[in-house]
Amino acid sequence: MSRFREPQHPDFVRMNTSVGFDVRLWPQDIAQSRAHANMLAECSIICAADRDALLHGLDQVEAELREQRFAFSEHDEDIHMAIERRVTEITGSVGGRLHTARSRNDQVATDIALYTRDRAHAAQAHITAVMEVLLRRAEEHIDWPMPGYTHLQRGQPVYLAHHLLAYFWMFMRDRERFMFAERQAGGTLPLGAGALAGVNFQTDRRMLARELGFDRPAPNSIDAVANRDFVLDYLSAAATCATHLSRLGVELVLWSSTEFGFCELPDAWSAGSSIMPQKKNPDAAELLRAKAPRVVGHLAALHGVMHALPLTYNKDLQEDKEHLFDAVDTLEISLSAAAGMLSGVAFKREPLASAAGDELIAATDVADLLVQLGVPFREAHGVVAGLVRTAVDAGKRLSQLTSQELAAQSEMLAAHHEQFSEVLSRGSWLESKVSEGGTARARVDEQLKLARTVLDEASASGD
Ligand code: ARG
Repeated sequence: MSRFREPQHPDFVRMNTSVGFDVRLWPQDIAQSRAHANMLAECSIICAADRDALLHGLDQVEAELREQRFAFSEHDEDIHMAIERRVTEITGSVGGRLHTARSRNDQVATDIALYTRDRAHAAQAHITAVMEVLLRRAEEHIDWPMPGYTHLQRGQPVYLAHHLLAYFWMFMRDRERFMFAERQAGGTLPLGAGALAGVNFQTDRRMLARELGFDRPAPNSIDAVANRDFVLDYLSAAATCATHLSRLGVELVLWSSTEFGFCELPDAWSAGSSIMPQKKNPDAAELLRAKAPRVVGHLAALHGVMHALPLTYNKDLQEDKEHLFDAVDTLEISLSAAAGMLSGVAFKREPLASAAGDELIAATDVADLLVQLGVPFREAHGVVAGLVRTAVDAGKRLSQLTSQELAAQSEMLAAHHEQFSEVLSRGSWLESKVSEGGTARARVDEQLKLARTVLDEASASGD
């Protein structure tokens, strides 16, 4: 019997059917169905023989899905209904008992929580791999000077290790965000909430939580089926992480250009041009850059779905999946690509060093020399700005300015011409950045040690 007199409109069926994408939840759906069947028997809601039949049916369905010989029917609306349909075909009417004390509402919330928990865990491993590569590459380039930038204008020189480690700390924060998402997804178990109000049976939700690895059953059945916060938490972590990857991507694009000439990307992560035979294009790095808005878009879209959504379950919630799934795929491939590219990129010492040796980028240090001589910093800043203009106008380097030209800006500086020249001599500008977290060699060494400790702690805790 059906409640309906008319069949569903074919376009509604197409719009409503989710099995094309939620099929990827099959491992989670099978796992929760096993736990559910065990619990039903433990609580004497079904008999042991029925449980065994259900478990046997689930084993067979699992094998069919794993070996990709599961025959979907055109009536399978989603993966939950497909699995139940097949279990019933295999076990006969016993199959109909699997859905006792369960609704698709708590079922789908549980599957998606299990899935999100797994992928949030996997993201941490992907990120750790990127951090490993960054640290290794930093260790290999400890004393390679390069220009540091603000506004994409040469600012102050830094060591390449220092720049690479900046990304290390960004990814470490991402890893913490995914740790949080994993805890949120695996905290409270939705299963057992039923459609929204609980179920008419004395179930054992603690047993379910234990079996499925959640901390505890969700304490409120309404919240349990309406909640997708943990998906937002994953997407939010993914959006920030993808944004970090886009900043890495753009730097690899710029640095590998002829104009910068700071590095060469590995062939395995570059593409040729269909018309210009000389070209080696940084397509992978460009994609790293361009994938970020897509992930951010998924986060914004799910916020849109959840916005002003009345409690509890609404079919709107089916729209969580494609956003989550695409974000997962995009992020995981991007992190692998970042690790691959970074491990093979060949940095070029000379172009980096000569860009860092641009005397103009020692301007702050000349100002600091004046400060040491007693001039207030603001005033010193003006003096050096004048010097730079004089040098640029005369087509000279700062070190080529005469005592007279110095005196025109500052008598004090002219009187300390030797110290002025010494500040401009290459190398001293980096080593003078001695403050904690600065680029002086000793500080970078400290940082490398700290980064190594962070990674060792992560591997000791099994992440
Ligand atoms: N495919 C649905 C989803 O993804 C499963 C839950 C359906 N529940 C319902 N009451 N129609 O959200």
